[in-house]
Amino acid sequence: MNTVALIVAAGKGERAGGTLPKQFALIAGRPMLAWSYAAFAKNPRIERVIVAIAEDQQRLTAEHMPGVATITGGTTRRASVASGLAAMGDAERVLIHDAARPFITDAVIDRLIDALDNADGAVPVLPIVDTLVSTDGTSVSREGLHRVQTPQAFRVDSIRRAHAEWRGAEPTDDAQMVRALGGSVALVQGDPMLEKVTLPGDFAAAEARIGWETR
Ligand code: CTP
Ligand code: MG
Repeated sequence: MNTVALIVAAGKGERAGGTLPKQFALIAGRPMLAWSYAAFAKNPRIERVIVAIAEDQQRLTAEHMPGVATITGGTTRRASVASGLAAMGDAERVLIHDAARPFITDAVIDRLIDALDNADGAVPVLPIVDTLVSTDGTSVSREGLHRVQTPQAFRVDSIRRAHAEWRGAEPTDDAQMVRALGGSVALVQGDPMLEKVTLPGDFAAAEARIGWETR
């Protein structure tokens, strides 16, 4: 079955600071975007990798990711995903991924694609280890709660319909749009390697993760 990867890399990386948008900043000598691109490109179950960048990032992309074809994303993450969904033709499955999560493992890709045999979508999750409390001081049980990562895998027809029919505020991930239409989203085991780079200190943490074998 035809499976493609979509990396959304059209953000500004404002919280990460720095001179370049974070997806082009170097992690161990390699642009952040190049790490996830390479992982998808070498995975035998992924047939094509689509990269969405901002219109004004074409020169940066040519410089830092030579030879990589791109499409133009949008002004929100959801719009960037929508551009990618429109560009994947008759693909049957898609793994949607944030360029801000540089390290993807083949094991996670396998778990996600396999889960699509029985679900419209699948997301990698990790358990919450901290104690939770709400602002008003009420203790919140962490029982049954998870932290959600990307890549998120979907049957393309399901995620296209979910995007087309979404009327809510900007969602924080794609799976919630599929659930809103009653679609099933499986939870598979995530990986600490998939942690996101958001703030300036996260770059050093990402470099420290290289070489981890956590699976
Ligand atoms: N993204 C995108 N198009 C947008 C906004 C975000 O493709 N219009 C992508 C980012 O490039 C990133 C992913 O969505 O890979 C997750 O978003 P986030 O971590 O918020 O990245 P930025 O929006 O770039 O960062 P910030 O919010 O700090 O500006
Ligand atoms: Mg953002």
